[in-house]
Amino acid sequence: MLTAANTLRVTRVSSVRVESPTVKTFTFKDKLCAKARPGQFIMIWIPGVDEIPLSIMNVEKGEVSVAVKAVGEATCALHGMKVGDKVGVRGPFGSYFTETPGRVLLVGGGTGVAPLLFLAKRLSARAKRLALVMGAKTKSELLFLDQFTALCTAKSMIAATEDGSYGLKCLATEPVETLLKKENFDMIYACGPEPMVRQIFLIAEKYVIPIEASLERLMRCGLGLCGSCMIGKYRVCKDGPVFNATQLREVKDELGVSKLDFDGKRIRF
Ligand SMILES: Cc1cc2nc3c(=O)[nH]c(=O)nc-3n(C[C@H](O)[C@H](O)[C@H](O)COP(=O)(O)OP(=O)(O)OC[C@H]3O[C@@H](n4cnc5c(N)ncnc54)[C@H](O)[C@@H]3O)c2cc1C
Ligand code: FES
Repeated sequence: MLTAANTLRVTRVSSVRVESPTVKTFTFKDKLCAKARPGQFIMIWIPGVDEIPLSIMNVEKGEVSVAVKAVGEATCALHGMKVGDKVGVRGPFGSYFTETPGRVLLVGGGTGVAPLLFLAKRLSARAKRLALVMGAKTKSELLFLDQFTALCTAKSMIAATEDGSYGLKCLATEPVETLLKKENFDMIYACGPEPMVRQIFLIAEKYVIPIEASLERLMRCGLGLCGSCMIGKYRVCKDGPVFNATQLREVKDELGVSKLDFDGKRIRF
C-alpha cells in the first residue's frame, strides 16, 4: 500500500557535521520524519547509488538528523555529500521505544547510540534516573560523549573501549552487569551490534528487568516484502526495529547468532 511515509520525497542536505573519523551527521528538512519517535528509521536514497536504512538520531524544527558510518558504497557516497546536495527520503518506519519515564538504563554500541541519543533527549527531563553504558572498539568511535554526559543523571555515563583508550577497558556488558548488581532499573533500552544486544538481553533476563532493543538486519525493500531482514517470524523493517522482551525471547536462538546475508544464505555473526 502506498502511504505518505512510503512516498519518496526529495530534499536537500542542510548541514553536515563530522562526529569521528568514520561517522558524519547529516540533517535535512522533512515534515513527516520530523514527527518520528525514537527508535524509528528512514530509508535514504542516494541518487544513482542505493537506498539504505538509517536510524533517526534527532528531530528538531521540521528537520531530521542521521549519524552515518562509512562502511560501503552507499554510506561512502553519502559521506561525500555537501550542504545543498539532493537526497531522497522515505519514512519514518517501524516500531519505537516506549519512553518509560522511571529508572532507565541505555546501552549502546557503535552507531547504535544514535537512536539512544534521540531517546535520551525525550527522557532526560522525565526519567527518575537516566544512565548510559556506551561501548566501542576505541576512543575515536565513542559518539556524542558530551551530549550524553549533559543528558544523563550526574556521573551516570559509562564508556567502555575494547583497547582501553578511553573509559573502562572491557566490553559494554561488564559495566552493565556491575550496575545491575547494585541497583534496579525499570527498563533497559539497547541498540548496537547484534551479538552485544544478545548479551544485554541475557543479562536483562537474569536480573528480571524489562528490555527493548533495536535490531539492525540487512534490508532491501524496507516495506515488509522481500524477507531479507527476517529474524524468527519477524521482519525487522515492519515488526521492528524495536522489539520487546517477549519478542526477543521468541527469537533468542537466532539473536546475535545467525542472520541472512545479501544472497539470502544463513550466516553466523
Ligand atoms: C533499522 C536500521 C537502522 C540503521 N541505522 C544506522 C545508523 O543510524 N547509522 C549507520 O551508520 N548505519 C545504520 N544502519 C546500517 C546501514 O543501513 C548500513 O551500514 C548500510 O546499509 C550499508 O550500506 P553500504 O552500501 O554503505 O554498504 P554495503 O556495501 O551494503 O555493506 C558494507 C558492509 O556493511 C554491512 N551491512 C550492510 N547493511 C547492514 C546492516 N543493515 N546492518 C549491519 N551491517 C550491514 C555489510 O554486510 C558489509 O559488510 C542501520 C541499519 C538498519 C537495518
Ligand atoms: S527489508 Fe524487505 S522485508 Fe524487510
